[in-house]
Amino acid sequence: MKKALSITAITFFLFAGIILFTLTRCSKSSTETTIVKDLRVEYMKNPVGIDVTQPRFSWKMESKERGAAQSAYTIIVSTDEAFKKTIWNSGEVLSDQSVSIAYGGAALSPATRYFWKVQVKDQTSRKIASTEKAFFETGLMDSGWSNAQWIKPLQRDTINTVPLFRTNCVLNKKIGSARIYSSALGIYEIFINGKRVGTPAENGSTRYDEFKPGWTDYTHTVSYLTDDVTALLNKGNNVVAAYVAPGWWQGGIAHGKYGNPDLGFMAKLVVNYTDGTSEVIVTDPKTWKCSVDGPIRQGDIYNGEVYDARKESAWASPGFDDSSWQTCGVNTDFKGEIKAFADPTVQIRSQLQRTPVKITRYEGINDTGSDFGMVNVKETYTDTVPVKIIPLAKGQTLVYDMGQNMTGWIKFKVKGKAGTELTARFAEMLNDEGKKSRGDDGPGGSLYRSNLRSAKAMLQYTLKGTEQGEEYHPSTTFFGFRYCDLTATDNIEIESLTGEVVGTASEEVGTFSTDNPSVNQLFSNVIWGQRSNFLSIPTDCPQRDERLGWMGDIEIFGRTASYNADLAAFFQKWTVAVRDGQRNDGAFASVSPHCWVGWGQAAWAEAGIIIPWTTYLMYNNKGILVENYPAMEKYMTFLANQADKKYKYNGAGTDYGDWVSYVHTDNRYISVCYYAYASLLMEKISLALSAGKEDEYAQKAVSYRTLYNQIKQEFQSRYTDKDGMLTQDTQTAYLLALKLDLFSTEAIRQKAIEHLRQLITDNGNKLNTGFVGTGVMMPTLSDAGLIDVAYNLLLQHANPSWLYSVDQGATTIWERWNSYTKENGFLPDGMNSFNHYAYGVVFEWMYRYVAGINPDENRPGFKHILLNPTPDFRKTFPEGQKQLMQADASYDSYYGKIRSAWKIETDGTVKYDITIPANTTATLRLLLSNEKSEILESGVPIKGAKGIASVNQENGKAVIELTSGNYSFEVR
Ligand code: BGC
Repeated sequence: MKKALSITAITFFLFAGIILFTLTRCSKSSTETTIVKDLRVEYMKNPVGIDVTQPRFSWKMESKERGAAQSAYTIIVSTDEAFKKTIWNSGEVLSDQSVSIAYGGAALSPATRYFWKVQVKDQTSRKIASTEKAFFETGLMDSGWSNAQWIKPLQRDTINTVPLFRTNCVLNKKIGSARIYSSALGIYEIFINGKRVGTPAENGSTRYDEFKPGWTDYTHTVSYLTDDVTALLNKGNNVVAAYVAPGWWQGGIAHGKYGNPDLGFMAKLVVNYTDGTSEVIVTDPKTWKCSVDGPIRQGDIYNGEVYDARKESAWASPGFDDSSWQTCGVNTDFKGEIKAFADPTVQIRSQLQRTPVKITRYEGINDTGSDFGMVNVKETYTDTVPVKIIPLAKGQTLVYDMGQNMTGWIKFKVKGKAGTELTARFAEMLNDEGKKSRGDDGPGGSLYRSNLRSAKAMLQYTLKGTEQGEEYHPSTTFFGFRYCDLTATDNIEIESLTGEVVGTASEEVGTFSTDNPSVNQLFSNVIWGQRSNFLSIPTDCPQRDERLGWMGDIEIFGRTASYNADLAAFFQKWTVAVRDGQRNDGAFASVSPHCWVGWGQAAWAEAGIIIPWTTYLMYNNKGILVENYPAMEKYMTFLANQADKKYKYNGAGTDYGDWVSYVHTDNRYISVCYYAYASLLMEKISLALSAGKEDEYAQKAVSYRTLYNQIKQEFQSRYTDKDGMLTQDTQTAYLLALKLDLFSTEAIRQKAIEHLRQLITDNGNKLNTGFVGTGVMMPTLSDAGLIDVAYNLLLQHANPSWLYSVDQGATTIWERWNSYTKENGFLPDGMNSFNHYAYGVVFEWMYRYVAGINPDENRPGFKHILLNPTPDFRKTFPEGQKQLMQADASYDSYYGKIRSAWKIETDGTVKYDITIPANTTATLRLLLSNEKSEILESGVPIKGAKGIASVNQENGKAVIELTSGNYSFEVR
């Protein structure tokens, strides 16, 4: 009750502040400076092919004025662009909500494009209307596939060539519009009349998606996509064609999950004629033909692609003679549901394209007395821009350095004789000295590939011998690499070669910079780790024979990831796979989509609760909580069932513990802590879903709190000594117990905090934690008042630390703190990825504590922002460390851009630049150096400053309630 009252009071105060401010300030019409933009449906821009019955709308209000806020909105949805055929008018809704508002009109029809717009009223009741073209289009919904069948090659060829499918169709009338709905068992591309199908954009360009239809748990779900193909069809004869590669359905990466299934393709083409009639063409074994003699001889995610350009033909175009092609068979391997794809797709991210920074040609090996010797370098090119033609003679090797570890493939143009074979191999690192003792697997300067394990990760391209040169990139595989080497069976010329970054094209929304170049490089490594491992689903690594949806990795990195990029739709879709993979007893899998490994392992399985909660906090996406709640409850039942005779609260399995830590913490201890963590989150989630005190969710919240208390009690008897301190004396153990408030008294908690400080300082101001401990480390230290210790760890360069890998030359985050050291070479372990995002979690702390940008759990999605910037106010520094003097972060939330920047001046004054987006408010907390500290805003004393609703003091901090706008504070 008390809490409710104070929130009401603050709201009133803020509102009064806004009005007061508005009256004094808004002489200029706010409509001139305020716009409504970035309209989204289901968190996506103009999605095509969604099967949601009540899509959710979001928009941003943007204003140069302070205190701009929405007081009402009206949403109009129509089936025509001119809004003559309105199907829903929300009417004026007095509300400040602008994120995730559900459609409330009559039932939507399948395969229909709906246009929508919104008009908002600002704080002065001025109307501002959206101006951008906004629409969404429904998919097939429950209208069905008109008997389309999964088709497959009738016979399996022995070498697994990528099969081609085609059909001819005659369209007799003038075409008004056309859509193709399609899916594959495998990954596929469609072509119409020889042209690749993509998404036409307003500006006339086309966006192409890769690895369609993305990765799902095929025991339950496969996605289908909807494409507008109006512009590709003609009156008369047309050809619809597709190829399908194994992708995640077949091949090594499926780890036998689906047996040994056939590839399959399914499509429904709906052509609407201008006269109002329509025609439907579907995949059917009788009318479609198939060939296994195409140019992609093999396409496999782990192993790479084998491509014979001599096999290219106009197979996807009209006029092609397909008389030697076979009829198709029907694929019955898939028993699940076909669901509309709703997510940003995987794309070539052309703005991230890499040109090589260095090319080395070598021939033979020099014996240097080491095990493997050194490559015999003939030539080095560092001036590769603008593009230079590089000759490659038989017997020589070219090593390309992209300057950045990344995920994708190479695209090259090559000239040479028909039949010449060009082989490209990929690696993240080069061998350094050619010594086994340093973990090298070949001569110094050659590709280090041991860490790929069984993944062949290579391309084999056979030239067709075109005189002007021939261009190629693969499409059925991807590589995690910084380096690639090329060899050829005959002399050729490489006319160009670039690295193309391939991954889920989520919009990047976070920026961070500081005055410390190493920290800035660390941020770049975190971002590249994310770009590399968000490929259809969140994966552990992009290079070796895994590339799987390891739940522990994303459990740890998910929050950071959602500051870096907009993952509202991505996570919602991925949790379908999490639910699909859940075992009957409620255990969540260790990898989702599930394959290969098991279920119910602590800190991995809990991603099934943690990720939906994160998505709710960051995007006000309550839908993801609603959808996942029953699965989460099932998981809680699984945990309850782990009780044994001795202990009631054991938590989940102990397979992974504090994975790859330097110091071991008992795995069971971690399971018990994560049980407590899960129950705390379930309490919060239940409260978020509760509509009032008495409802079922509210009661569930109470029972989860009780559960937490019981776990805590048993934890204390199991893991604390007579003084209340932990029997597990490790950093990870103390961090978890502090984060989850598991100590019995405040006095013991304080002692534990001091002990944790000691554990870290005694370790030379270094951490020694693995995935789990590192995952919670920095926020826990800060919340415990040890922000100085956190800064010591951030700016530590010795092993293990974040900056250690930066100093060793890392351009992505590594799986291990010491995956490679200049001192000792490679870690001698097959599990040694140079592109694993988990340790990138430090940037959660950078955004949430250093810059201090936090969502408010009670008004999620950044409707209200808790802004607690915490500059580096350390008074003493570990040897060799300097104070961080500046940080500047921004996060483009669903309400608009939030910025928090600070700078410590030489005289000790601290400047803060703050941006609060329109239609949000913030509580800013600024540390005061003493009672007499003075705060100025834009050069004037804060009390009179515009847009500021109130200023108070609390525990040595100024607590400032802000309305939207840009602010410059100075604390002296
Ligand atoms: C993966 C990890 C994963 C772990 C589970 C590894 O092989 O690469 O990132 O979480 O297995 O133990």
